[in-house]
Amino acid sequence: MRKNIVAGNWKMNNSLQEGLDLAKDLQKTLKGKTLQCEVVICTPFIHLASILKEIDTIGLGAQNCADKVSGAYTGEVSAAMVASTGAQYVIIGHSERRAYYGETNAILKEKVLLALANDLTPIFCIGEVLPEREAGIQEQVVETQIRESLFDLSPADFGKIVLAYEPVWAIGTGKTATSEQAQEMHAFIRKTITGKYGKEIADNTSILYGGSANASNAKDLFSNPDVDGGLIGGASLGVDKFLPIIEAF
Ligand code: PGA
Repeated sequence: MRKNIVAGNWKMNNSLQEGLDLAKDLQKTLKGKTLQCEVVICTPFIHLASILKEIDTIGLGAQNCADKVSGAYTGEVSAAMVASTGAQYVIIGHSERRAYYGETNAILKEKVLLALANDLTPIFCIGEVLPEREAGIQEQVVETQIRESLFDLSPADFGKIVLAYEPVWAIGTGKTATSEQAQEMHAFIRKTITGKYGKEIADNTSILYGGSANASNAKDLFSNPDVDGGLIGGASLGVDKFLPIIEAF
């Protein structure tokens, strides 16, 4: 059965000390609670090794990894390095990486392969920009992103992927997709996976929603049959805002 996951994406926020404090606070708050979802925090690289020591029931992930194995790539961090910190997840293909750092579907395909080779679970992000939504081509956009980066994977490897549908127009804008829009796209994504890998794998794939998810809309979003959790940016930066989203399940 697919898992419900609420993952925080800290983006480029928090000094090491601030990050440690936030992680400790979150772990303390969640301790002993019975949750209906797995909680993950995706932090800047520099936080990973230190934060791992402060958490036990919370999963840990990076927000990116290199598309190369190792060597002379100044400033890059490889999937093997991420895995060596003890992190279990890595966000790949976030729209901010696609838009500001030129990450193409082909580059992201390499990153996914390296993440899987290092036993990391990719949280693979897909989603259309506003002009694409306005032109009514959001399904084609998302289908192409999935096909070009993921559909050469073996069924066993595809089964290890977590997807995050993040309409770019909803990220950090306060403009959430409606619950109906989210369900419609998630159902389309699951149907696309079914077409390639079959119903069993599609049914077992967790598909998270991301884009201005918060305490007031999470319950509604998560109540949809094809929405298996959230990738949460701004609202993951404080326990007071993140906890109600976690408890929306
Ligand atoms: P947001 O970001 O929740 O701040 O909109 C989500 C994301 O980019 O993953």
